[in-house]
Amino acid sequence: MVIMLKNRSIISISDLDGEDINEVFSRADKMLENIESGKKINVMSSKILATLFYEPSTRTRLSFESAMERLGGSVISMADSKTSSTSKGETLADTIRIVESYSDLIVIRHPLEGAAFLASRFSSKPIINAGDGSGEHPTQTLIDLYTIRKEFGSIDGKTITIIGDLKYGRTVHSLLSALSRYNVTVNLVSPENLAIPKHVYNDVKGRLNMNISTDITKYLGETDILYVTRIQKERFTDKNEYARLIGSYKITVSDVNKLKKGAIIMHPLPRVDEISSEVDNTPAARYFKQAYYGVPVRMAIISMIAGE
Ligand code: CP
Repeated sequence: MVIMLKNRSIISISDLDGEDINEVFSRADKMLENIESGKKINVMSSKILATLFYEPSTRTRLSFESAMERLGGSVISMADSKTSSTSKGETLADTIRIVESYSDLIVIRHPLEGAAFLASRFSSKPIINAGDGSGEHPTQTLIDLYTIRKEFGSIDGKTITIIGDLKYGRTVHSLLSALSRYNVTVNLVSPENLAIPKHVYNDVKGRLNMNISTDITKYLGETDILYVTRIQKERFTDKNEYARLIGSYKITVSDVNKLKKGAIIMHPLPRVDEISSEVDNTPAARYFKQAYYGVPVRMAIISMIAGE
């Protein structure tokens, strides 16, 4: 299975099979040990990772770059497309043709769904989708699954309640696809206008035990994992609609107290106002730990694609 991922692009979470995902988990455990013990690994020395970010990012870009540095490799970065020749009208295809000749692996985030797939058509080097519009964010899902596994020992048997912008939230789209491989129950909660898109729902229905509602209260007592997402302001064409929806849900300490015993709260971050800051001090909060796992999980992914 390691060979299967060697030199391969990751555009969708469905590009990884169950064995690949288990291998990510087991490598991430080892990478985490190495990070925490300060042990140096040099499996990527002489290799270069390019990060092309056409949209803002804190965690994804910096954790990929940190992961590559921790593996002994080097990084070249376009953190803002305004400072690149994109602003002069260069096409994505031409940019990729150039960047693939400067690097061994390309991580791309782009506002258009399908952009990472398009990039992979113009690159002989592997492409990792770091978020394509409202499409997918597969490596975030690997971090999410890894966090659940670290917290509970396994993913099977859990009830996961996902609340927020299910329409535009790409992390949710990848996560649902991944969860459909496990024996879990998923409750999907959102304002009506931000419901899960039909194509995402249809893709997993029949393989996933799902409930849909606009009301979270009925699910709190059965929830092992409360996965919260922000309203994706940048995807709205009608700013008045965003203004109407912002603040339509907010997780408070009172909600946390109603969760099943031992439940955790996850969020891919960034957070705006959908989780009260007081929740950060409760034992259920895991979103900062989840973000911490970004480096070991991405070290695992890079090393597998490199065939190391
Ligand atoms: N979770 C995530 O994708 O965060 P960033 O937008 O900061 O990369």
